[in-house]
Amino acid sequence: MTQRLLFVCLGNICRSPAAEGIFVHLLKSSEHNGDYLVESAGTGAWHVGNDPDSRMRSAAAQRGIHLPSKARQITKADLLKFDRILTMDQDNFDQVCRMAKQSNFDQKSMALIEPITMYCSKFSATSVPDPYYGGESGFEDVLDLLEDACKGLLAFLSDRNHS
Ligand code: 4NP
Repeated sequence: MTQRLLFVCLGNICRSPAAEGIFVHLLKSSEHNGDYLVESAGTGAWHVGNDPDSRMRSAAAQRGIHLPSKARQITKADLLKFDRILTMDQDNFDQVCRMAKQSNFDQKSMALIEPITMYCSKFSATSVPDPYYGGESGFEDVLDLLEDACKGLLAFLSDRNHS
């Protein structure tokens, strides 16, 4: 069965498109089972239609990771379209949970909403820090954290497909 994953941050130009790109890269470069639909979105609308931040694109490109998506804002329909919504920080998590509460959707048909850091194994961070207003190293730190989390997520989903 297709696993449908939506990565969510604030602007959808730094962290969540990076998570999307890393996950797709892992799918191409590692052994795994099953089909995946992978997208990203932001809780905010400021950057809708934009490419990912050029600093994030170049940091990702150094690792061979391509970030082709355009920014979009999460909608209530995403709660039904995806199986899992992976949020980057507490604010994104709270916003998506609020949207879920406000919708009248049946709980059972809605996506699971999870902090992506719950899939980390190397790092013990509880959020992916927003790199937008910081220096270059912030983008590398985000990619390190997201590579760890996405590997853990893919391993978890692959195990589930086996059982
Ligand atoms: P993101 O980073 O949530 O990882 O995409 C941000 C991008 C833009 C803004 C904030 C965070 N902004 O305020 O425009």
